[in-house]
Amino acid sequence: MTIRLKKQVIDILKILQKKSSEVLAIELANELKIDYIVLMSAINDLIEHGLGGFREEEVDQISLNDEGINYMKNGLPERQLLNILLEKNIKEISLGEFLKESKLDENIFYIGISNLKKNRWVSQSKASGKNKIYITAEKFPEMDLEKFLLKFKEKPVIDYSKLSKHELVQLNILNKRKLVKRNHRTERIIGLTDKGKKIEISKIKELEQVSKITPEMLISGSWKNYELKPFDVSKSGPLLKAGKFHPMINLINEIREIFLSMGFTEIRGPIIESAFYNFDALFQPQDHPARELQDTFYLSNPKSARLPERERVLAVKATHENGGDTGSKGWGYEWDENIAKKTLLRPHTTATTMRRLAQFYRNNEKAPVKVFCVDRVFRNEKVDKSHLAEFTQVEGIVIDDNATLCDLIGLLSEFYRKLGFKKIITRPGFFPYTEPSMEVAVFYDKLGEWLEMGGSGIFRPEVTYPWGIKNPTRVLAWGQGLERIAMLYFGRKDIRDLYINPIKWLRSQSY
Ligand code: PHE
Repeated sequence: MTIRLKKQVIDILKILQKKSSEVLAIELANELKIDYIVLMSAINDLIEHGLGGFREEEVDQISLNDEGINYMKNGLPERQLLNILLEKNIKEISLGEFLKESKLDENIFYIGISNLKKNRWVSQSKASGKNKIYITAEKFPEMDLEKFLLKFKEKPVIDYSKLSKHELVQLNILNKRKLVKRNHRTERIIGLTDKGKKIEISKIKELEQVSKITPEMLISGSWKNYELKPFDVSKSGPLLKAGKFHPMINLINEIREIFLSMGFTEIRGPIIESAFYNFDALFQPQDHPARELQDTFYLSNPKSARLPERERVLAVKATHENGGDTGSKGWGYEWDENIAKKTLLRPHTTATTMRRLAQFYRNNEKAPVKVFCVDRVFRNEKVDKSHLAEFTQVEGIVIDDNATLCDLIGLLSEFYRKLGFKKIITRPGFFPYTEPSMEVAVFYDKLGEWLEMGGSGIFRPEVTYPWGIKNPTRVLAWGQGLERIAMLYFGRKDIRDLYINPIKWLRSQSY
């Protein structure tokens, strides 16, 4: 049967055939610059085919410790001391002076002295009255220990088993002087079997790599002829271009989650509105410029809207004409019911909010009421990078006793904080229906400036009194631009991008 091996295994077999003797696994791995584990797995393939093998050997190795290395380089302490005496031609010296002269550690100095005496190179005497060292030898030949120490210069790690008897004696001395380390290891030695040595490389087939095994390969057994390609787990998978929600839908849903988590309920209202709920109920005078055609889309069909219950219409009429029971003087003009009946595409969701106040009145509800609305509005606006003619507002109100502007600031800050915007400011603003009024701005890192997000405030008595909501019950209200929020949220500089649907951007969004 033909033998099939991976290319790398064949290469290793070739090298082993050339070497014709056993090799240390570690050394071969270093030589081939491959991982030890990769080499051993290749050897396993050789073993499987009876071509190679390995055996293990316990090795005892010795090397010098730091102190030993120091002496190997600079000489043993006794040699260092002797050299001082010889260089300065000193025949006798007091022990104290010698210590100073030597600049050695006291410990090492005395080791040196004791060995000098053992070698009979010096003697020590107090005969002169002082503790003195005298040179007593004429020759100071290289000691066996010194020769042995130098062996480590060529080979820092020496196999214990290769030491001669004589060297073992020296090792023993080094050991006693605590200058060596011993290290025990298991080494693998790899080699070829007779079959491996004789086999002709050209007769071996290379194992082909495949990335998957098919049922056919399993049935025919041919899978044995292939090697599975290893997986690269660091590679990312293919891009999935599956259908998903539009990022704006995801954002709206997140906004819903936030308001719901803050105890709000969602409301909706008609896109086709009456001027009554859109303007009149909001105490916007009938000659107010915002009502004009250049801002608002009026409808010719349906031409006219039904007004709510008569007495409420009259209450609203009174606020405009003389302030009604609010204590205000009103606008002081004659209110025209037909203007209030006009139909339009709502330019703000505050009309829907207004309908909720009417409902509060009709159902005789009690505070607190917390509602929000995310819905479409229309304005006769020139489209540019920060304006759309058709956009979405994030509107809301809180009807509560003793509600304050601080509550409103807290609420809006909390909302933006939950969306991930930390830097928000509120500043004075103006709307016909709120007093005081506030504008909300959020810092936009991409442009390095504050982006106007919308308006807010406390509804005026002229707005709430006709619906029975009177001090100290107050209505906190706000209307923010969803697309403005989206620009910040998605980091887009052009508001139109949100609806032009750049495909690259859509694909980069999460599900
Ligand atoms: N209706 C205002 C707008 O469209 C926003 C607003 C809502 C302001 C509620 C104050 C209170 O800009």
